[in-house]
Amino acid sequence: MQLFKSKTGLIAHVNKQKQADFSVGFVPTMGALHEGHLSLVKAALATNNCVVVSIFVNPTQFNNPDDLNKYPRTLDKDIQLLETLSKQSIVVYAPEIKDVYGPKIASDCFDFEGLELEMEGRSRPGHFDGVGTIVKRLFEIVNPDNAYFGEKDFQQLQIIKKMVAITKLPVNIIGCPIEREPNGLAMSSRNTRLTPLEQHESALIYKTLKLVNQKFKKESVQAIYRWVDTQFSANPLFELEYFQISEIETLTTIEQNNSNKTYRAFIAVFVRDVRLIDNIDLN
Ligand code: PAF
Repeated sequence: MQLFKSKTGLIAHVNKQKQADFSVGFVPTMGALHEGHLSLVKAALATNNCVVVSIFVNPTQFNNPDDLNKYPRTLDKDIQLLETLSKQSIVVYAPEIKDVYGPKIASDCFDFEGLELEMEGRSRPGHFDGVGTIVKRLFEIVNPDNAYFGEKDFQQLQIIKKMVAITKLPVNIIGCPIEREPNGLAMSSRNTRLTPLEQHESALIYKTLKLVNQKFKKESVQAIYRWVDTQFSANPLFELEYFQISEIETLTTIEQNNSNKTYRAFIAVFVRDVRLIDNIDLN
């Protein structure tokens, strides 16, 4: 598998693919790859001749320097995992910070029309400017036809679609379904920080979301909010940070169901100091 540490080599490689009229798929990651990431790479391999996977822990999307320093860096293991999918069609771009940011490590400011203020944005000010900045720069370097993002970070997916609309970059954004453990827990690199008991008990998160999906057809939104609160306050292992039902275009919380719109339920829960997020389609 080819590994590029500098954008110059990667750009030359992608240009060669494009000259051959090949389509280029792109999966941006921060490494510590798991089955969730691999499902994005598989989706990209299914419809593109060449797939670029970036592995880059982006400093501008971290609010807490400690989280940035502690973020797992497992490049050799990540490459081995990718090689189980394809050695020929996948290339990895794993740059140093300077290769992407130059001398000034700073975010651009975007107008995401309020999408950035909801849910994850409430506890992580500036986070989505950092995500928008790095994904825009990576798109400019990789110049992909299609880029793949997991629906587990649904707010991020909507923000990236907005960034592409603002910047008019010619990239097709494809959202991919959430990959789950056998007990329903959404796959995440954070799951490895849970004890076996916590992993087992965390099945409650998706179990609750599936019941919300059923209740949404017949109960008031207020009743559902109250019910979700009781599910988590009854269990001392969990601390519910937020649960909200939102219309998918604006991501604002709804107070009642308007049948013409498309909704999703979103949740963030602490299990000790491990923060888990998940969501479900309600239509
Ligand atoms: O979802 C992630 O892993 C990151 O936010 C992304 C999209 C790779 C940008 O750093």
